[in-house]
Amino acid sequence: MNKKTVRDIPVENKKVLVRVDYNVPLKDGKVQDDTRIRLSLPTIRYLLERNASLVLISHLGRPKGEKKEELKLDPVAEKLEELLGKKVTKVDEVVGDRVAGVVNSLSQGEVLLLENVRFEPGEEKNDPGLAKQLSRLGEIYVNDAFGTAHRAHASTEGITGFLPSVAGLLLEKEVDTLQGCLEEPRRPLTVVMGGAKVSDKLGVIKRFLQTADYLLIGGGMANTFLVAQGYSPGSSFYEEDSLEDARELLGLFEQSRARVYLPRDLVAADSVEEGASQREVPVNSLSGEDRAVDVGSSTMEVYEEVIRKSEMIVWNGPLGVFEVPPFHRGTEILARAAVDSRAFLLLGGGDTVSAFENLNLIQGVDYVSTGGGATLEFWEKGDLPGIKALQDMYS
Ligand code: 3PG
Repeated sequence: MNKKTVRDIPVENKKVLVRVDYNVPLKDGKVQDDTRIRLSLPTIRYLLERNASLVLISHLGRPKGEKKEELKLDPVAEKLEELLGKKVTKVDEVVGDRVAGVVNSLSQGEVLLLENVRFEPGEEKNDPGLAKQLSRLGEIYVNDAFGTAHRAHASTEGITGFLPSVAGLLLEKEVDTLQGCLEEPRRPLTVVMGGAKVSDKLGVIKRFLQTADYLLIGGGMANTFLVAQGYSPGSSFYEEDSLEDARELLGLFEQSRARVYLPRDLVAADSVEEGASQREVPVNSLSGEDRAVDVGSSTMEVYEEVIRKSEMIVWNGPLGVFEVPPFHRGTEILARAAVDSRAFLLLGGGDTVSAFENLNLIQGVDYVSTGGGATLEFWEKGDLPGIKALQDMYS
């Protein structure tokens, strides 16, 4: 990475503001998945070992500038305290006199978590006033919130105008790993693209067409390609508004270095519900009430063969309606093949990670990105506003 990190500036005995991404799922007032919190620990420990005092900033959910009881960060503070094995003080505000008082009385080696920064209307507006207020709470700013680095907000971008700003260790690792897939992949590199919408992934598909050896497409987005090729979708979900883009991509598939595979057969169900009657059909045979809910077995055979000969696999999005069994089957078979293969397996965040977790296959994954939208945007654009704003390595 060409940005300075916590290792490149003196942090000893400093008051350090750390932007983390603790946007984690909660259930009954408890953190349901603590992955993002666990992965923030190396930076926190690095700083604590150097006697820094830490002021942590995070958002949770999308409260849109209003205080929402259910989006307070108390359960996160509790989980962090447990994982860190150390007291974490939590305040109920983001900025203001009370927060400033607590920050001033913070001793070396202590950790403070501010309230959900999106309770402040200025956060998402990247308001310089809020950025300045936040900056007064520390001497150095560290961005370790890779998952939020695609947002130019006050706590991710604006604040860098007021403090020396460097990357945390998680952000550094994400950038190096995700960049590595694009620039120096192990080959053959296979990219599995699934999920509902092609519109979310147009840019990433285009980018990987230039670097991947194989691209395997599945999920709802495959339906949009099939319609663009002239096949009937029956009653399947597809994106009418993205047909033009899908046609353009089909043209690019022809010229690309990557060999692109679309499903040749599908599982068609009469509804997207557990217990719905289902059958396998070739892609040119969907009609009436048929809904494509998964890839078919002949597609699976081809996809598995590609997976077996891969040295690197980048996976983003499930292949079928994963959350409704048995329409998870295609994803499950391919996920097992990927885990069993010799390839370095990287998951691009979000639904893909949940799918591997539900299948108990997450232990076999080599790298799980903490970003959802951030990971896709990073691959597409090669940079993100929250990263760009940090100090360059040679400056
Ligand atoms: C995420 O979970 O993808 C990040 O925390 C960003 O959240 P956002 O999409 O609400 O900005």
